[in-house]
Amino acid sequence: MRIDIVTIFPTFFDVLDVSLIGKARERGIVTIGVHDLRAWTHDRHRTVDDTPYGGGAGMVMKPEPWGEALDEILADDGVLIVPSPAGEPFTQKLAREFADEAQLVFACGRYEGIDQRVVDHYAQRGRVRLVSLGDYVLNGGEVAAMAVVEAVTRLIPGVVGNPESLVEESHEDGLLEYPVYTKPQQWRGLEVPPVLLSGNHGEIARWRREQQLERTRERRPDLLG
Ligand code: ADE
Repeated sequence: MRIDIVTIFPTFFDVLDVSLIGKARERGIVTIGVHDLRAWTHDRHRTVDDTPYGGGAGMVMKPEPWGEALDEILADDGVLIVPSPAGEPFTQKLAREFADEAQLVFACGRYEGIDQRVVDHYAQRGRVRLVSLGDYVLNGGEVAAMAVVEAVTRLIPGVVGNPESLVEESHEDGLLEYPVYTKPQQWRGLEVPPVLLSGNHGEIARWRREQQLERTRERRPDLLG
């Protein structure tokens, strides 16, 4: 998979050199390009924003640098992802969908957002997804892009060492994960649930399923529909 990120803060993505994503990049499983939007400006001040038509607070990102950047970076079969609090909620299902793509291009907006015509133009030419991390406002698309990159890349075969660890996680089966324990058996007066020491795999599987349902009912009843 190829991932491209366009941002006015390229150093923000330096952390993509570390941990599992860093290793996946080294091994060539995923190629990530980080691009400074200002490289596609032509004025002395490398301007990327201007005042909004119709008035109002803040600044809007100009369409021209975005057009030039995306014309160069976005392949015909690539998906343009625009992180936005006005987008569709990002879910594990969407992460799985994105993990099958050949190219993802992230357009990280700042200020009050990107001129709407950028999204409209690329939606005419190809696939565009507005994606929201949740019902709260971040300073820009960078943190959201990072979250999507991490959630997607870990689904690519070879990125996470043990593929079984992907199966039993929160949201993979529509439920929250069961609680996990390791040694010691007693810690600060708290015991590991005895069923986990029983060696009875049927009982353990049943207990874990009950825990998943109980947690989901308590914390995320919306997931149970
Ligand atoms: N940009 C600003 N807020 C955001 C959010 N909640 N999700 C995605 N992108 C954003």
